[in-house]
Amino acid sequence: MKPKHPSESLTILTDLVLPSETNPLNNLFGGELLARMDRAASIAARRHSRRIVVTASVNHVAFNRAIPLGAVVTIEAKVSRSFKSSMEIFIDVWVEDRESGFRTKANEAIYTFVAVDDTGRPVEVPPIEPETELEKQRFEAALRRKQLSLLLAGKIKPEDATELRALFV
Ligand SMILES: CC(C)(COP(=O)(O)OP(=O)(O)OC[C@H]1O[C@@H](n2cnc3c(N)ncnc32)[C@H](O)[C@@H]1OP(=O)(O)O)[C@@H](O)C(=O)NCCC(=O)NCCS
Repeated sequence: MKPKHPSESLTILTDLVLPSETNPLNNLFGGELLARMDRAASIAARRHSRRIVVTASVNHVAFNRAIPLGAVVTIEAKVSRSFKSSMEIFIDVWVEDRESGFRTKANEAIYTFVAVDDTGRPVEVPPIEPETELEKQRFEAALRRKQLSLLLAGKIKPEDATELRALFV
């Protein structure tokens, strides 16, 4: 399969925070942000694979900054690495200042999607070739994150998590 670049899967979703999407502190409800990130990540995974894709796991979410009611939120999702049938999607969340238009990074997350056929069986996806320095860093660390996710899900044994073991020797 012909390799693709992360930029080919770039997906940008910009939307407002409405009153029905907030918690009692008038900040964006965490579950709403998770759903928006899932949607953006799913489009990125589909753009990379051109297949049906399903969320396999949420590997990491950092709710670093609260996002207030009325804020303009931009979610950027890109495939950071593909394996056989799975794809790691890196998601950056930005909030735009109303007056200056300046964007501040509010949150980030990493999801894993799997490409499947019509019966839900995993199918192969194109390899990926990172281009920028950040894409290369995210690509390099993705195998480690995949092994950690599989280990936590009980899908591999600790002795098979070779990338994680390499961190401690
Ligand atoms: C995701 C799913 C397709 C994986 O199926 P499976 O039978 O476990 O298939 P496999 O073991 O062959 O795994 C397929 C790929 O997913 C990866 N994977 C599975 N679970 C994973 C996890 N928790 N973290 C990271 N990767 C995972 C495997 O490593 C494998 O990757 P690779 O092919 O790139 O090496 C299946 O579990 C599924 O359909 N889950 C439900 C998905 C869904 O409905 N999501 C929405 C939730 S509401």
